[in-house]
Amino acid sequence: MLKGKKIVVGITGSIAAYKMPFLVRLLVKEGAEVRVIMTPASTDFVTPLTLATLSQKGVIIDPFKAASWEWSNHVELGQWADVMIFAPVTANSLGKMACGIADNFVITAYLSAKCPVFIAPAMDLDMYKHPSTQKNISILLSYGNSIIEPQTGELASGLSGPGRMEEPEKIIALLHQHFAQSQALHKKKVLITAGPTYEKIDPVRFIGNFSSGQMGFSLAKEAARRGAEVTLVSGPTHLDISHPAIHRIDVSTADSMYKACLSEAGKADIIIMAAAVADYTPQQVATGKIKKSSSAMHLDLVPTKDILKTMGLAKKANQILVGFALETSDAIANATKKLKEKHLDFIVVNSLEDAGAGFGGETNKVTILSKGGEKYLGQLKEKDAVASDILDLITQSKQ
Ligand code: CTP
Repeated sequence: MLKGKKIVVGITGSIAAYKMPFLVRLLVKEGAEVRVIMTPASTDFVTPLTLATLSQKGVIIDPFKAASWEWSNHVELGQWADVMIFAPVTANSLGKMACGIADNFVITAYLSAKCPVFIAPAMDLDMYKHPSTQKNISILLSYGNSIIEPQTGELASGLSGPGRMEEPEKIIALLHQHFAQSQALHKKKVLITAGPTYEKIDPVRFIGNFSSGQMGFSLAKEAARRGAEVTLVSGPTHLDISHPAIHRIDVSTADSMYKACLSEAGKADIIIMAAAVADYTPQQVATGKIKKSSSAMHLDLVPTKDILKTMGLAKKANQILVGFALETSDAIANATKKLKEKHLDFIVVNSLEDAGAGFGGETNKVTILSKGGEKYLGQLKEKDAVASDILDLITQSKQ
Protein backbone atom coordinates (compact mmCIF):
# COMPACT_ATOMS: atom_id res chain seq x y z
CA MET A 1 0.00 0.00 0.00
CA LEU A 2 2.89 2.42 0.67
CA LYS A 3 4.88 1.34 -2.40
CA GLY A 4 6.20 4.40 -4.24
CA LYS A 5 4.66 6.84 -1.76
CA LYS A 6 6.83 9.87 -1.06
CA ILE A 7 6.97 10.44 2.67
CA VAL A 8 8.72 13.22 4.59
CA VAL A 9 9.49 12.32 8.20
CA GLY A 10 10.16 15.33 10.47
CA ILE A 11 11.72 14.62 13.85
CA THR A 12 11.86 17.04 16.80
CA GLY A 13 13.72 16.88 20.10
CA SER A 14 11.91 14.40 22.31
CA ILE A 15 13.14 11.17 23.86
CA ALA A 16 10.51 9.39 21.74
CA ALA A 17 12.79 10.08 18.75
CA TYR A 18 14.35 6.71 19.59
CA LYS A 19 11.29 5.11 17.93
CA MET A 20 11.92 6.85 14.61
CA PRO A 21 14.49 4.46 13.14
CA PHE A 22 11.83 1.73 13.51
CA LEU A 23 9.24 3.84 11.73
CA VAL A 24 11.65 4.73 8.91
CA ARG A 25 12.65 1.08 8.54
CA LEU A 26 8.99 -0.02 8.31
CA LEU A 27 8.22 2.69 5.73
CA VAL A 28 11.19 1.72 3.55
CA LYS A 29 10.31 -1.96 3.90
CA GLU A 30 6.84 -1.19 2.51
CA GLY A 31 8.43 0.45 -0.53
CA ALA A 32 7.98 4.11 0.44
CA GLU A 33 10.53 6.75 -0.52
CA VAL A 34 11.45 8.42 2.75
CA ARG A 35 13.21 11.71 3.38
CA VAL A 36 14.10 12.49 6.94
CA ILE A 37 14.43 16.03 8.28
CA MET A 38 15.44 16.78 11.86
CA THR A 39 15.58 19.70 14.27
CA PRO A 40 19.04 20.23 15.78
CA ALA A 41 17.67 19.23 19.23
CA SER A 42 16.44 15.87 17.93
CA THR A 43 20.00 14.84 17.00
CA ASP A 44 20.75 14.51 20.75
CA PHE A 45 18.24 11.64 20.88
CA VAL A 46 18.85 9.75 17.63
CA THR A 47 21.70 10.05 15.17
CA PRO A 48 21.29 11.39 11.64
CA LEU A 49 23.63 8.63 10.47
CA THR A 50 21.20 5.93 11.67
CA LEU A 51 18.31 7.63 9.88
CA ALA A 52 20.30 8.30 6.70
CA THR A 53 21.34 4.65 6.60
CA LEU A 54 17.78 3.38 7.08
CA SER A 55 16.17 5.86 4.67
CA GLN A 56 19.00 5.46 2.14
CA LYS A 57 19.04 9.26 1.75
CA GLY A 58 20.84 12.18 3.37
CA VAL A 59 19.14 13.74 6.37
CA ILE A 60 18.56 17.51 6.46
CA ILE A 61 19.12 19.33 9.72
CA ASP A 62 20.57 22.64 8.66
CA PRO A 63 19.89 23.29 4.96
CA PHE A 64 22.73 25.79 4.74
CA LYS A 65 25.17 22.99 5.46
CA ALA A 66 23.55 20.70 2.92
CA ALA A 67 24.61 22.34 -0.33
CA SER A 68 25.66 19.06 -1.85
CA TRP A 69 22.25 17.41 -1.39
CA GLU A 70 19.94 17.68 -4.32
CA TRP A 71 16.72 18.01 -2.31
CA SER A 72 17.52 20.50 0.43
CA ASN A 73 14.91 23.09 -0.52
CA HIS A 74 11.90 23.02 1.82
CA VAL A 75 9.55 24.29 -0.90
CA GLU A 76 10.58 21.45 -3.21
CA LEU A 77 10.12 19.04 -0.36
CA GLY A 78 6.64 20.45 0.27
CA GLN A 79 5.69 19.79 -3.35
CA TRP A 80 7.40 16.40 -3.50
CA ALA A 81 5.71 14.71 -0.54
CA ASP A 82 2.53 12.63 -0.71
CA VAL A 83 2.37 12.86 3.04
CA MET A 84 4.41 14.41 5.86
CA ILE A 85 4.70 12.81 9.29
CA PHE A 86 6.04 14.89 12.14
CA ALA A 87 6.98 12.59 15.01
CA PRO A 88 7.72 12.97 17.79
CA VAL A 89 6.56 16.58 18.13
CA THR A 90 7.46 18.43 21.31
CA ALA A 91 5.30 21.09 22.97
CA ASN A 92 7.79 23.65 21.62
CA SER A 93 7.50 22.46 18.02
CA LEU A 94 3.70 22.17 18.27
CA GLY A 95 3.64 25.84 19.28
CA LYS A 96 5.90 26.80 16.40
CA MET A 97 3.78 24.84 13.91
CA ALA A 98 0.57 26.40 15.22
CA CYS A 99 2.02 29.93 15.04
CA GLY A 100 4.20 29.57 11.94
CA ILE A 101 7.50 30.27 13.68
CA ALA A 102 9.85 28.97 11.01
CA ASP A 103 13.18 28.96 12.80
CA ASN A 104 14.35 25.52 11.69
CA PHE A 105 14.10 23.33 8.61
CA VAL A 106 11.44 21.03 10.04
CA ILE A 107 9.00 23.91 10.59
CA THR A 108 9.74 25.50 7.19
CA ALA A 109 9.03 22.14 5.54
CA TYR A 110 5.76 21.88 7.53
CA LEU A 111 4.74 25.37 6.37
CA SER A 112 5.54 24.40 2.76
CA ALA A 113 3.49 21.18 2.84
CA LYS A 114 0.99 20.77 0.04
CA CYS A 115 0.01 17.31 1.19
CA PRO A 116 -1.78 15.79 4.20
CA VAL A 117 0.18 16.23 7.41
CA PHE A 118 0.24 13.87 10.42
CA ILE A 119 1.51 15.16 13.74
CA ALA A 120 2.39 12.82 16.62
CA PRO A 121 2.88 14.79 19.84
CA ALA A 122 5.10 13.37 22.58
CA MET A 123 5.72 15.05 25.92
CA ASP A 124 5.16 14.77 29.62
CA LEU A 125 1.54 14.49 30.75
CA ASP A 126 1.25 17.93 32.35
CA MET A 127 2.75 19.60 29.31
CA TYR A 128 0.32 17.67 27.12
CA LYS A 129 -2.69 18.62 29.24
CA HIS A 130 -1.69 22.30 29.47
CA PRO A 131 -4.24 24.64 27.82
CA SER A 132 -1.47 26.12 25.61
CA THR A 133 -0.67 22.69 24.18
CA GLN A 134 -4.34 21.80 23.77
CA LYS A 135 -5.00 25.16 22.10
CA ASN A 136 -2.10 24.58 19.70
CA ILE A 137 -3.46 21.12 18.88
CA SER A 138 -6.90 22.53 18.14
CA ILE A 139 -5.33 25.22 15.91
CA LEU A 140 -3.38 22.56 14.02
CA LEU A 141 -6.53 20.44 13.64
CA SER A 142 -8.44 23.44 12.31
CA TYR A 143 -5.76 23.82 9.62
CA GLY A 144 -6.63 20.33 8.38
CA ASN A 145 -3.73 18.44 9.97
CA SER A 146 -4.28 15.03 11.54
CA ILE A 147 -3.13 14.58 15.10
CA ILE A 148 -1.90 11.12 16.06
CA GLU A 149 -3.06 11.07 19.66
CA PRO A 150 -0.35 10.14 22.16
CA GLN A 151 -0.93 7.01 24.17
CA THR A 152 -1.35 6.77 27.91
CA GLY A 153 1.39 4.95 29.77
CA GLU A 154 4.71 5.25 31.53
CA LEU A 155 6.62 8.37 30.48
CA ALA A 156 10.34 9.11 30.48
CA SER A 157 9.87 11.33 33.56
CA GLY A 158 8.69 8.29 35.55
CA LEU A 159 5.14 9.69 35.62
CA SER A 160 2.29 7.88 34.01
CA GLY A 161 -0.39 9.43 31.77
CA PRO A 162 -1.06 10.63 28.22
CA GLY A 163 2.03 11.74 26.29
CA ARG A 164 3.69 8.62 24.85
CA MET A 165 4.23 8.88 21.12
CA GLU A 166 2.15 6.36 19.18
CA GLU A 167 4.01 3.17 18.20
CA PRO A 168 5.51 2.97 14.68
CA GLU A 169 3.31 -0.02 13.71
CA LYS A 170 0.18 1.99 14.58
CA ILE A 171 1.43 4.96 12.56
CA ILE A 172 1.93 2.64 9.58
CA ALA A 173 -1.65 1.36 10.03
CA LEU A 174 -2.91 4.96 10.05
CA LEU A 175 -1.05 5.62 6.82
CA HIS A 176 -2.60 2.54 5.21
CA GLN A 177 -6.01 3.82 6.23
CA HIS A 178 -5.16 7.30 4.97
CA PHE A 179 -4.07 6.16 1.51
CA ALA A 180 -7.05 3.80 1.18
CA GLN A 181 -9.43 6.64 2.06
CA SER A 182 -7.67 9.40 0.15
CA GLN A 183 -8.11 7.49 -3.08
CA ALA A 184 -11.84 7.18 -2.43
CA LEU A 185 -12.60 10.90 -2.89
CA HIS A 186 -9.59 11.80 -5.02
CA LYS A 187 -10.44 14.89 -7.11
CA LYS A 188 -14.16 14.57 -6.33
CA LYS A 189 -15.94 17.89 -5.96
CA VAL A 190 -17.87 18.04 -2.71
CA LEU A 191 -20.25 20.84 -1.72
CA ILE A 192 -20.95 21.06 2.02
CA THR A 193 -23.10 23.51 3.94
CA ALA A 194 -22.66 24.26 7.63
CA GLY A 195 -23.93 26.38 10.47
CA PRO A 196 -27.08 28.37 11.07
CA THR A 197 -28.60 31.14 9.01
CA TYR A 198 -29.51 34.54 10.44
CA GLU A 199 -32.70 36.17 9.24
CA LYS A 200 -32.68 39.87 9.97
CA ILE A 201 -35.59 41.43 11.85
CA ASP A 202 -34.13 44.91 12.18
CA PRO A 203 -30.56 46.34 12.17
CA VAL A 204 -29.73 44.73 15.54
CA ARG A 205 -31.81 41.52 15.72
CA PHE A 206 -32.19 38.30 13.83
CA ILE A 207 -33.91 34.92 13.90
CA GLY A 208 -31.28 32.20 14.20
CA ASN A 209 -30.70 28.82 15.77
CA PHE A 210 -28.16 27.06 17.98
CA SER A 211 -26.20 25.33 15.20
CA SER A 212 -22.44 25.76 15.77
CA GLY A 213 -21.39 24.61 12.29
CA GLN A 214 -19.16 21.91 13.78
CA MET A 215 -20.73 18.96 11.93
CA GLY A 216 -20.37 20.61 8.52
CA PHE A 217 -16.82 21.74 9.29
CA SER A 218 -15.86 18.21 10.39
CA LEU A 219 -17.29 16.89 7.12
CA ALA A 220 -15.36 19.47 5.08
CA LYS A 221 -12.10 18.62 6.84
CA GLU A 222 -12.61 14.89 6.44
CA ALA A 223 -13.61 15.15 2.77
CA ALA A 224 -10.50 17.26 2.05
CA ARG A 225 -8.38 14.72 3.92
CA ARG A 226 -9.73 12.04 1.59
CA GLY A 227 -8.62 13.95 -1.48
CA ALA A 228 -11.79 15.88 -2.34
CA GLU A 229 -11.96 19.47 -3.56
CA VAL A 230 -14.40 20.96 -1.09
CA THR A 231 -16.61 24.02 -1.28
CA LEU A 232 -17.86 24.88 2.18
CA VAL A 233 -20.82 27.26 2.30
CA SER A 234 -21.03 28.39 5.89
CA GLY A 235 -23.54 30.39 7.86
CA PRO A 236 -22.30 32.59 10.73
CA THR A 237 -19.92 30.66 13.00
CA HIS A 238 -16.81 31.27 15.04
CA LEU A 239 -15.13 28.19 13.58
CA ASP A 240 -11.93 28.46 11.57
CA ILE A 241 -10.88 26.17 8.80
CA SER A 242 -7.91 26.43 6.52
CA HIS A 243 -6.96 23.73 4.06
CA PRO A 244 -5.68 24.16 0.52
CA ALA A 245 -8.47 21.91 -0.78
CA ILE A 246 -11.29 23.76 1.04
CA HIS A 247 -12.84 26.83 -0.56
CA ARG A 248 -14.99 28.58 2.03
CA ILE A 249 -17.92 30.83 1.11
CA ASP A 250 -19.43 32.75 4.04
CA VAL A 251 -23.11 33.59 3.91
CA SER A 252 -25.60 34.80 6.50
CA THR A 253 -29.21 34.38 5.37
CA ALA A 254 -31.12 31.40 3.95
CA ASP A 255 -31.42 33.32 0.71
CA SER A 256 -27.66 33.99 0.42
CA MET A 257 -27.00 30.30 1.20
CA TYR A 258 -29.53 29.34 -1.50
CA LYS A 259 -27.76 31.52 -4.08
CA ALA A 260 -24.27 30.27 -3.15
CA CYS A 261 -25.39 26.63 -3.22
CA LEU A 262 -27.17 26.91 -6.51
CA SER A 263 -24.18 28.45 -8.24
CA GLU A 264 -21.93 25.63 -6.92
CA ALA A 265 -24.29 22.62 -7.09
CA GLY A 266 -23.88 21.92 -10.81
CA LYS A 267 -20.15 21.24 -10.39
CA ALA A 268 -20.49 18.95 -7.38
CA ASP A 269 -20.19 15.16 -7.38
CA ILE A 270 -21.41 15.03 -3.80
CA ILE A 271 -23.57 17.54 -1.91
CA ILE A 272 -23.97 17.36 1.86
CA MET A 273 -26.41 19.79 3.36
CA ALA A 274 -25.52 19.94 7.05
CA ALA A 275 -26.60 23.55 7.58
CA ALA A 276 -29.53 24.40 9.82
CA VAL A 277 -31.36 26.67 7.40
CA ALA A 278 -34.14 28.92 8.69
CA ASP A 279 -37.53 27.82 7.37
CA TYR A 280 -39.00 31.31 7.75
CA THR A 281 -37.72 34.84 7.35
CA PRO A 282 -39.32 38.17 8.29
CA GLN A 283 -41.47 39.49 5.47
CA GLN A 284 -39.93 42.90 5.99
CA VAL A 285 -36.74 43.99 7.67
CA ALA A 286 -37.35 47.12 9.74
CA THR A 287 -34.97 49.89 8.72
CA GLY A 288 -34.63 51.19 12.30
CA LYS A 289 -34.44 49.33 15.60
CA ILE A 290 -37.94 48.19 16.59
CA LYS A 291 -38.89 49.93 19.81
CA LYS A 292 -40.55 48.06 22.66
CA SER A 293 -44.12 48.70 23.64
CA SER A 294 -46.39 47.26 26.29
CA SER A 295 -48.55 45.34 23.79
CA ALA A 296 -47.84 41.94 22.18
CA MET A 297 -45.52 41.97 19.20
CA HIS A 298 -46.28 40.22 15.88
CA LEU A 299 -43.79 39.46 13.19
CA ASP A 300 -44.95 38.39 9.75
CA LEU A 301 -42.75 35.55 8.53
CA VAL A 302 -42.62 34.09 5.05
CA PRO A 303 -41.15 30.68 4.10
CA THR A 304 -37.58 30.54 2.80
CA LYS A 305 -36.68 28.46 -0.22
CA ASP A 306 -35.85 24.84 0.55
CA ILE A 307 -32.30 24.63 -0.80
CA LEU A 308 -32.01 20.86 -0.51
CA LYS A 309 -35.32 20.23 -2.23
CA THR A 310 -34.31 22.54 -5.07
CA MET A 311 -31.02 20.68 -5.46
CA GLY A 312 -32.88 17.34 -5.30
CA LEU A 313 -35.10 18.37 -8.20
CA ALA A 314 -32.08 19.51 -10.25
CA LYS A 315 -29.94 16.49 -9.32
CA LYS A 316 -27.54 15.31 -12.04
CA ALA A 317 -27.02 11.64 -12.83
CA ASN A 318 -24.34 10.18 -10.52
CA GLN A 319 -24.57 13.14 -8.15
CA ILE A 320 -24.95 12.09 -4.52
CA LEU A 321 -27.22 14.24 -2.38
CA VAL A 322 -27.14 13.99 1.39
CA GLY A 323 -29.45 15.85 3.73
CA PHE A 324 -29.66 16.15 7.48
CA ALA A 325 -32.80 15.94 9.57
CA LEU A 326 -33.04 17.33 13.05
CA GLU A 327 -36.01 15.83 14.83
CA THR A 328 -37.46 16.02 18.30
CA SER A 329 -39.93 13.14 17.87
CA ASP A 330 -40.74 10.34 15.35
CA ALA A 331 -37.22 10.85 13.99
CA ILE A 332 -37.09 7.93 11.55
CA ALA A 333 -40.58 8.44 10.12
CA ASN A 334 -40.02 12.18 9.62
CA ALA A 335 -36.56 11.68 8.13
CA THR A 336 -37.79 8.97 5.74
CA LYS A 337 -40.40 11.43 4.51
CA LYS A 338 -37.71 14.08 3.91
CA LEU A 339 -35.47 11.52 2.15
CA LYS A 340 -38.23 10.83 -0.38
CA GLU A 341 -39.65 14.34 -0.74
CA LYS A 342 -36.25 15.95 -1.29
CA HIS A 343 -34.97 13.19 -3.66
CA LEU A 344 -31.99 12.38 -1.44
CA ASP A 345 -29.57 9.47 -1.59
CA PHE A 346 -28.95 9.61 2.15
CA ILE A 347 -30.35 11.39 5.15
CA VAL A 348 -28.43 11.81 8.39
CA VAL A 349 -30.86 11.84 11.29
CA ASN A 350 -30.15 13.65 14.54
CA SER A 351 -32.70 13.06 17.23
CA LEU A 352 -32.73 15.46 20.13
CA GLU A 353 -34.18 12.55 22.13
CA ASP A 354 -30.61 11.17 22.16
CA ALA A 355 -28.32 12.79 24.75
CA GLY A 356 -25.21 14.34 23.18
CA ALA A 357 -26.76 14.56 19.69
CA GLY A 358 -27.59 17.57 17.53
CA PHE A 359 -26.57 21.23 17.79
CA GLY A 360 -23.62 22.59 19.74
CA GLY A 361 -21.18 20.33 21.55
CA GLU A 362 -18.41 18.17 20.17
CA THR A 363 -20.41 14.95 19.86
CA ASN A 364 -23.24 13.61 17.78
CA LYS A 365 -25.25 10.43 17.46
CA VAL A 366 -26.76 9.81 14.07
CA THR A 367 -28.80 7.30 12.15
CA ILE A 368 -28.18 7.29 8.41
CA LEU A 369 -30.91 6.15 6.04
CA SER A 370 -30.30 5.44 2.37
CA LYS A 371 -32.80 5.66 -0.46
CA GLY A 372 -32.23 1.94 -0.97
CA GLY A 373 -33.66 1.30 2.50
CA GLU A 374 -30.42 0.63 4.39
CA LYS A 375 -30.16 1.91 7.92
CA TYR A 376 -26.89 2.68 9.73
CA LEU A 377 -27.13 3.13 13.49
CA GLY A 378 -24.26 5.22 14.84
CA GLN A 379 -22.95 5.41 18.37
CA LEU A 380 -22.38 8.66 20.29
CA LYS A 381 -19.06 9.92 18.86
CA GLU A 382 -16.95 13.01 18.33
CA LYS A 383 -18.29 14.94 15.33
CA ASP A 384 -15.01 14.28 13.45
CA ALA A 385 -15.63 10.53 13.80
CA VAL A 386 -19.27 10.91 12.74
CA ALA A 387 -18.06 12.81 9.64
CA SER A 388 -15.76 9.92 8.85
CA ASP A 389 -18.64 7.40 9.14
CA ILE A 390 -20.86 9.49 6.87
CA LEU A 391 -18.14 9.70 4.20
CA ASP A 392 -17.41 5.96 4.53
CA LEU A 393 -21.05 5.20 3.72
CA ILE A 394 -21.18 7.60 0.78
CA THR A 395 -17.92 6.27 -0.62
CA GLN A 396 -18.96 2.65 -0.28
CA SER A 397 -22.22 3.40 -2.06
CA LYS A 398 -20.25 4.63 -5.08
CA GLN A 399 -18.24 1.44 -5.44
N1 CTP B 1 -32.93 22.58 4.35
C1 CTP B 1 -32.70 23.37 3.25
N2 CTP B 1 -33.36 24.53 3.08
C2 CTP B 1 -34.27 24.94 3.99
C3 CTP B 1 -34.52 24.13 5.12
C4 CTP B 1 -33.83 22.95 5.28
O1 CTP B 1 -31.86 23.02 2.42
N3 CTP B 1 -34.90 26.07 3.81
C5 CTP B 1 -32.18 21.31 4.49
C6 CTP B 1 -31.32 21.21 5.73
O2 CTP B 1 -30.02 21.69 5.47
C7 CTP B 1 -31.31 19.72 5.99
C8 CTP B 1 -32.66 19.26 5.48
O3 CTP B 1 -33.12 20.30 4.60
O4 CTP B 1 -30.31 19.07 5.25
C9 CTP B 1 -33.68 19.02 6.52
O5 CTP B 1 -33.78 20.12 7.38
P1 CTP B 1 -34.76 20.11 8.63
O6 CTP B 1 -34.72 21.45 9.30
O7 CTP B 1 -34.54 18.89 9.47
O8 CTP B 1 -36.16 19.87 7.94
P2 CTP B 1 -37.13 20.78 7.15
O9 CTP B 1 -37.18 20.28 5.75
O10 CTP B 1 -36.80 22.22 7.34
O11 CTP B 1 -38.49 20.40 7.84
P3 CTP B 1 -39.00 20.63 9.38
O12 CTP B 1 -38.31 21.88 9.87
O13 CTP B 1 -40.48 20.78 9.24
O14 CTP B 1 -38.62 19.39 10.14
